[in-house]
Amino acid sequence: MAKIIDGKKIARDILLDLKSKVDKCDKKPGLAVILASDDDSSKLYVESKEKKSLALGYKSCIYRFDKSITQGKLIQLIHELNADKGTNAILVQLPLYKHLDAQQILELIDPRKDVDGFHPINVGKVSCGLKPYAYCCTPKGIVKLLKAYNISLAGKNVVVIGRSNIVGKPVAMLLSNENATVTLAHSKTKNLKSITKEMDIIISATGQSKLIKADMVKKGAVVIDVGITRHYNGTLSGDVDFEKVKEVAGYITPVPGGVGPMTIASLMENTYELFLEQNK
Ligand code: GUN
Repeated sequence: MAKIIDGKKIARDILLDLKSKVDKCDKKPGLAVILASDDDSSKLYVESKEKKSLALGYKSCIYRFDKSITQGKLIQLIHELNADKGTNAILVQLPLYKHLDAQQILELIDPRKDVDGFHPINVGKVSCGLKPYAYCCTPKGIVKLLKAYNISLAGKNVVVIGRSNIVGKPVAMLLSNENATVTLAHSKTKNLKSITKEMDIIISATGQSKLIKADMVKKGAVVIDVGITRHYNGTLSGDVDFEKVKEVAGYITPVPGGVGPMTIASLMENTYELFLEQNK
């Protein structure tokens, strides 16, 4: 029976520590969040980011736009936020409305305020093994979870399933920097089971509910579930068939309460770190 990795608890500890540091600051970190989407999940994510940043005493500002927003208006807002001394961190919630060019927007954010670590300068720094201004939030949260449970990474065989710019690719890079041997699998990968069966650590970030079955997991392996699917009846499930896989795995993250809270904790931590860097 696997040990359940309690992301909620680790995230709470990070936020408590952060709160005590922020309370000692005269000025407060400023986080700007841009929501240009009518995606329900994105709306919920942005609300919980707002709640957490208010609880920490951050000066957070949410910019919500309807479908009439233009690329030009968004570009202008990014320029204003880049120039605003009170804004230390900028987050553009993805995905954007289909008529907008997200990559152009991400590349216009000042890399020093790029709280998601999505700017090519920050992505490039990580790929060179250098410290970026900010690490991508979910990958950073996953590495913290593994470390909190003393799960060593050096020399471990890890498969990351899903090659998104938000999770799959950056977490593969971070784990490689931690000396893991990383396989990056995706929707075109052949015979996924023959790969996952051999792995010490499985990280699944596909959004395909219950993709990872018990017979795909080596006994004692660590299983990290980044996927989240909302069902019509309001329930949530991850990429992993949790009830069955927990009988085989050594460690497993639940959904909800695993990786999700760590993403927000990393975002709050990144905001604080960018604030400190800009006020040195
Ligand atoms: N959409 C899904 N996850 C994320 C994230 O971590 N950051 C941003 N900006 N958008 C997302």
